[in-house]
Amino acid sequence: MTTQDAGPVRVAVVGAGEWGKNHVRTFSQLRGAHLVSVCDLAEARLANVRAQYPGVGTTTRYDEVVQDGSVEAVVIASFASQHFTQARQALHAKKHVLVEKPMTLDATEAEELVHLAASVGRCLMVGHLLLYHPAVVKMRQLVETEEIGELFYLYSQRLNLGQVRKDENALWSFGPHDVAVALHLFGSEPLVVTAKGEAFLQKGIVDVVFVTLHFARRKMAHIHLSWLDPHKIRRTTLVGSRKMVVFDDMEPTDKIRIYDKGVDIRRHTMSYEDYLHVRFGDILIPHIGSEEPLRLECQHFLDCVRPGATPRSDGVHGLQVIRVLAAAQKSLQLDGVPVSVKG
Ligand SMILES: NC(=O)c1ccc[n+]([C@@H]2O[C@H](COP(=O)([O-])OP(=O)(O)OC[C@H]3O[C@@H](n4cnc5c(N)ncnc54)[C@H](O)[C@@H]3O)[C@@H](O)[C@H]2O)c1
Repeated sequence: MTTQDAGPVRVAVVGAGEWGKNHVRTFSQLRGAHLVSVCDLAEARLANVRAQYPGVGTTTRYDEVVQDGSVEAVVIASFASQHFTQARQALHAKKHVLVEKPMTLDATEAEELVHLAASVGRCLMVGHLLLYHPAVVKMRQLVETEEIGELFYLYSQRLNLGQVRKDENALWSFGPHDVAVALHLFGSEPLVVTAKGEAFLQKGIVDVVFVTLHFARRKMAHIHLSWLDPHKIRRTTLVGSRKMVVFDDMEPTDKIRIYDKGVDIRRHTMSYEDYLHVRFGDILIPHIGSEEPLRLECQHFLDCVRPGATPRSDGVHGLQVIRVLAAAQKSLQLDGVPVSVKG
């Protein structure tokens, strides 16, 4: 065992922008991590890092991070278009990688990263934040234990006014979160995807998109994404055979409500009125932890690195999400024609 294997994981963060600065803060705080350096093309952002975290190295050159033998793990929070090449370089240099969503912009690239991580024996994790959110952990438990019965369908909305991006559309910017949650809750990949959307603000960059994922046995997930909407909504609704669940991330505390509501089918009844019995029961607000999802995500990464454990949002899960997004993008271009996920 080397000294590095014994101490905190030595981490570098690439991209100290609006989101990456949260990774910088979190890895500087977690006891299992030692934040070695931060890389960004923007010198002004590095100056902020130096002011807040004296002792942390800064560089504008990514190759310096990759060539630094003391760095064990690289966290990539740069532009989406950079994720593939940066993750590939880091894995080639035998670093563990936590790459922000979207993992890549193309399924063959995601596949290459999965194979590369396996061949060099390093951890590859994707920043699908919601999989670490206590509310999503609770929803997964409600599905797995069948407390809500059989999960029939879900729908989610991720709406806001801004942040309008120029390098990716609303599907690739917001979609990874909800697609990741849908795959996680159904525990499988959809067979077919349909998507319709429109670009109003910038030519060719859709601002609003409606995506439907069709799973085996008629299960489905419908996802509405937009950065051109008067409301800020982050809500997921699950409809099960016995209960229904609403996760509202805009609620400060009571983020999850379990509705003991449903329609029971009474097969042994004479009257048609009794055949479908609508049930209105209690509403339960379970206590879920209030820990910051990003902290939980980063801690999970650290916990997986040393023992070589498979992260919840590993490269394979990331690849599945990219396949769905790629199919949705194709359907968007074909004006809503159903597209098979497996190609
Ligand atoms: N998991 C989440 O909840 C979540 C939330 C927001 C953003 N994100 C993702 O995080 C990533 C960053 O988003 P953001 O909002 O911080 O964007 P941003 O534009 O604010 O920051 C990106 C930073 O990366 C730097 N950068 C770009 N290319 C680089 C390179 N080659 N080398 C070094 N630095 C480079 C830029 O200079 C910039 O400072 C995106 O992929 C985004 O989708 C994830």
